[in-house]
This record gives sequence, C-alpha cells and structure tokens, in this order.
Amino acid sequence: MSGLATNIFAHRGASGYAPENTMAAFQLAYWQGADGIETDVHLTKDNIPVLMHDERVNRTTDGSGFIQGYTLHQLKQLDTGSWFSPKFTGSRVVTLDEFLVWIRDKALYLNIELKNNKIDYKNLETIVYDKIAFYGLLDCTILSTFNPNSVIRLNEIGAKTGAALLTAERHKQLITYAKDLKASAIHIKYRLLSQALINRSHEEHMAVRVFTTNKPVQMLRCFSMGCDAIFTDFPEAAIQYRHQFNS
Ligand code: G3P
Ligand code: MG
Repeated sequence: MSGLATNIFAHRGASGYAPENTMAAFQLAYWQGADGIETDVHLTKDNIPVLMHDERVNRTTDGSGFIQGYTLHQLKQLDTGSWFSPKFTGSRVVTLDEFLVWIRDKALYLNIELKNNKIDYKNLETIVYDKIAFYGLLDCTILSTFNPNSVIRLNEIGAKTGAALLTAERHKQLITYAKDLKASAIHIKYRLLSQALINRSHEEHMAVRVFTTNKPVQMLRCFSMGCDAIFTDFPEAAIQYRHQFNS
C-alpha cells in the first residue's frame, strides 16, 4: 500500500483493461500496484453476495434479467467476459467469498459498495459485514452506499469499517447531512468536488474519495487538492501520474 496522500482504488477492478468485477480485473489491479480495489455487491435469489455493478445482468453477461432472479448456480452459467473482449470468454461471476479469499493475503484496501439504492436487499449490510469479519478484513475494508438508510443500518450494527456515503448529486448541506448520518467518509462524483468540500469534510474527520477519475487532469486535480483516494478504471496510469506529481 502506498503511504502517499491519495490512494488509488481500481474501480470495479482494473476495468479499463479487463471486464469489470471479474477475477481478471481484480488480478490486474493487484499486479498494476493499486492501493485498493472497489467492487459492487448484490444478492442472488438464494441470498449469495455477488460482485456485479448493474441490477440486471444484461450489459455485462450473455444473459438477461435481474441478478435477484438468478440462483448462484444459474448465475455461474453466464459468461461475464466476452462482452468486453473475446479474450475474456469464459469469465464467471465472482462471489464475495471468492473475492475475499483471494484478497485476504494481499496488502490491498477493499471498498465494497453495497448496491442497495435501487433494490434495498434485505440484510445486505449484515451478510456482507459478517463475511468481512469472518475473513479478518475489517481493518482494510471500507463499506459504501448511495442509500442513506443503509449508512444508518451499518452504524446500527456497529460496523467497525465505518459507512461511507456515496453521492452523485449536488447537495447544499452535504457535510452536515453526512455528519448527521454518522457517515465515516464521503465518496463523491468528480464533478461535485471542490476544495471547500474537502476542507470541510476533513474538519469533520470524514475522508473524501472521488469517482470516477479516468482523465489525467482529473487525477492531478485530486492529488493537488488532497483527496484521500480516487477511483479509476486505469490504476496503472494513475500510479504513473501520482509518481510524476510527487517527484
Ligand atoms: O464506489 C464508487 C463508484 O463505483 C460509484 O459509482 O456507479 O461506478 O458504482 P458506480
Ligand atoms: Mg461502484
């Protein structure tokens, strides 16, 4: 992990180079030297946490319909790589367990984004939290969500990971709002970023992490403003830019 000010999280793994949220993308993020990996979690019909971004499988697999409509066994029949490139044909959906087993001996941060803003999966917080605890990864994990009720629920269960509030919309009183929710951090869309927001957030001891910064100019602005982390599809490039920025 880097001791430098701004950490680099591979967004959905190194998803600029490999299909998002697949083992290939996670492995590549690790090889490229990312400080952490961001991934998204949903529940299958049989309540198994799986790593995919959309509620439906249509965009990133050869299937169709909601993740929630599939058992894990059914979901594992789908191809999660060929939409990106024939090179990745045969990739399979990754469960949270598989991911945690893979990452637990690696010096990486994890950001698990609970995808419960459109479908508020029952008990998603405890299902995910208990697995992170089981694998001994509480100290290096950040949990985040766009769903304010989920931030509250994570705090109610006493999540040692804290609960980061994700936002993609302008909010006049964002810091106060996040503070009232007892969010541990703010994960904000790049276009909403300002130096004042970072300063105010830091005054309230909330980290600021920024998504999704794929352009060099965006990355450099985040580094110079003192963002705690960026999420990028191109961790290898971001690491190079951070190196140049710091030298
Ligand atoms: O967690 C940061 C970012 O991933 C949030 O947006 O839509 O890419 O999951 P999205
Ligand atoms: Mg995400």
